[in-house]
Amino acid sequence: MGGDELAREKMLKQKRERKIIAFTGTAALLAIVVNFAISAFNSYKEKRRKKDLPGSCVRINLSAAEIRKLADRIIAKSKEVHDTVASVSVDKVTYQDVISLAELEAKHFPLVQSCIFPRLVSTTEDVRKASAEAEQRIDIHVSMCSKREDVYRVVKAFASRGKWISAEFQCYIHCLVRDFEQNGLSLTLAKREEAQRLRAQMDEQSLQYIRNLNDDCNSLNFSEAELDGLPSEFLQSLDRAENGKFKVHLRSNHVSPLLELCKVGKTRKKVALAYGQRCKEVNMPLLENLVQLRHKYARLLGYENFADYAASSRMAKTSSKVFEFLENISTSLSDLAAKELAILKDQKKKDEGDSPFGIEDLLYYVKRIEEQKFNLDFGALKQYFPLNLVLHGIFKILQNLLGLRFDETSGAEVWHHDVCVFSVSDSSSGELLGYAYLDLYSREGKYGLTCVVPLQNGLLLSGGARQVPVVLLISNFHKEVGDHPALLRYSEVVNLFHEFGHVVHHLCNQATLGRFSGLRVDPDFVEIPSQLFENWCYESSILKLISGFHQDITRPIKDDICMSLQRWRHSFSALKLRQEILYCLFDQIIHSADNVDFLELFKYLHPKIMLGLPVLEGTNPASCFPHSAIGYEASCYSRIWSKVFAADIFVSKFSDALLNQYVGLQFRNKVLAPGGAKDPVESLSDFLGREPSIQAFVDSITLSSSL
Ligand SMILES: *[C@@H]1O[C@H](CO)[C@@H](O)[C@H](O)[C@H]1NC(C)=O
Ligand SMILES: *[C@@H]1O[C@H](CO)[C@@H](O)[C@H](O)[C@H]1NC(C)=O
Ligand SMILES: *[C@@H]1O[C@H](CO)[C@@H](O)[C@H](O)[C@H]1NC(C)=O
Ligand SMILES: [Zn+2]
Repeated sequence: MGGDELAREKMLKQKRERKIIAFTGTAALLAIVVNFAISAFNSYKEKRRKKDLPGSCVRINLSAAEIRKLADRIIAKSKEVHDTVASVSVDKVTYQDVISLAELEAKHFPLVQSCIFPRLVSTTEDVRKASAEAEQRIDIHVSMCSKREDVYRVVKAFASRGKWISAEFQCYIHCLVRDFEQNGLSLTLAKREEAQRLRAQMDEQSLQYIRNLNDDCNSLNFSEAELDGLPSEFLQSLDRAENGKFKVHLRSNHVSPLLELCKVGKTRKKVALAYGQRCKEVNMPLLENLVQLRHKYARLLGYENFADYAASSRMAKTSSKVFEFLENISTSLSDLAAKELAILKDQKKKDEGDSPFGIEDLLYYVKRIEEQKFNLDFGALKQYFPLNLVLHGIFKILQNLLGLRFDETSGAEVWHHDVCVFSVSDSSSGELLGYAYLDLYSREGKYGLTCVVPLQNGLLLSGGARQVPVVLLISNFHKEVGDHPALLRYSEVVNLFHEFGHVVHHLCNQATLGRFSGLRVDPDFVEIPSQLFENWCYESSILKLISGFHQDITRPIKDDICMSLQRWRHSFSALKLRQEILYCLFDQIIHSADNVDFLELFKYLHPKIMLGLPVLEGTNPASCFPHSAIGYEASCYSRIWSKVFAADIFVSKFSDALLNQYVGLQFRNKVLAPGGAKDPVESLSDFLGREPSIQAFVDSITLSSSL
């Protein structure tokens, strides 16, 4: 439990959304459309259309009726095409049959996305509803197509002949076959039915697990004295029980501030305990059962266990590699983590006397020491980050570093007048690389989290021309009101850099096929560019470039603040990371072995990884650890993975070359351009001149520590 888990819970929600969005991408791929008549959609180039973006097939601001009609046609066309492919005889299937699938998928993707993204951003409820329904219908259709044996047999027959015209095409066919086979299509009918049954049970139980957590509305009552340390605005926001006590709900928005700020150790413990026991009775057996189903499923497909199945299509490749990775990092950080813990324990002794230090004290004392040490007032810091200034700083950085020029396009069709559209071009050749829609401000009905949605993939069209990528960034900043400009919290600045990492990743892609374009890459790799860009926000020269006091933007933030931010970034990070590793190991172990006793496992792992701190008796992540239930099962490690290799890239190549275009272009060409068809380890090795390693990450934490 603790801050990490809470933060990750939020992240998971975001991830889950992104997964849905990414899944739609797969949808577009599999809903193959031979001879897809793009002209069929010409009727959607409505008369009221404002300015078209040359090269973009994305339909903007469709009405509910238009979305429904478009979804109908997509599904009908896709079905027709699947039937056509299925009717090809397996000994006559040609390159043309198969490559046309990829070509036409290119045309399909932006249309599918046109139906789906309004769910997140449209200003009218009936459009959002039509969009959500269209998404559901398309997903169901795609899921059906991905289980079509007749189509699989044709593709497989072609694959077995092994005649390839390019490595990327070979990889494409390989992925098509793999996707079918992961759905059980290479199995006998009886086994396939078994796999489908398991899949359905797994889906249902995962949802039930999440539903149980969402429905849990337990709360605790505390007096004002028991909540000492919490700001009065927070107390005022709480409901009151009949006896006048404050009601603390077991939700991260209540638990998180309480564990960070409440001075009363007993209260923290009570809350941590209750929070870690949520859904104990219902979810523990549910997850046990779910894990067994997952193992069964993986074994049907020929894997030893579920963790190996999950790793097989990722950079890590095997579960044993994941263990090695987690253990290496954990070991490298153990000395520093022990020093960090000693400091926290000392402080507790000073504040609270001899009561032993527990896991429930971690966040509070981290915060307490940080306040003494860093003198960072994040509320005041906000005054230095007007959104427009930060945004233009980011554009400047991307231009200098990656040779990307962002120009605002006026008059393009949008769904709300706050949305800005940018054309992005190569700053030396002037070549158009793509478009970015920025929908930055919160408003009613809009999706509440930050995310990046690919709207059209970059790829090579059959005639030899490139189709440009189109991308949408959604965030929820508060808009300027009167004289008050939109100001960003520092964490929002970091977040914006992160999301721009995804944006440029999508835009810089030079893959031939949409299947490997933009963000459709190895899931262990997809967060690396975005994690990488976060590093810029901690560098003094960059902070000065993107900041300015809002009433006098010529005054950037001061040197001492920059230094503090740098030191603050790594404070207690060894300990925090060990806590994250604890959960990752738990996740990895339950998914790689049979009949694990979850309670015993956690009891054993907790003190081992957390340097002797015992588990809070009765708590267990198995019952309230949504990552292991849905979306992140057996892959919780991936967040640390991408952070570690992003640090490797930054430290080895960029820390002395923050705006060096030579290095930036190498990165753009060697890492961002190849896309998902190239093994990411190869791309990274090509750029780094060696295999990626964890050393730079470990050094950056241990060397920057002032302990
Ligand atoms: C909190 O107080 C209410 C009375 O307002 C009571 O019904 C409830 O049981 C109390 N909860 C706990 C956990 O003590
Ligand atoms: C773990 O450390 C060992 C020894 O230093 C090294 O050989 C291995 O490559 C590392 N593995 C990973 C996944 O980092
Ligand atoms: C979106 O389309 C509707 C008509 O369907 C129109 O009234 C509205 O002004 C359009 N929105 C924008 C921002 O152009
Ligand atoms: Zn991300």
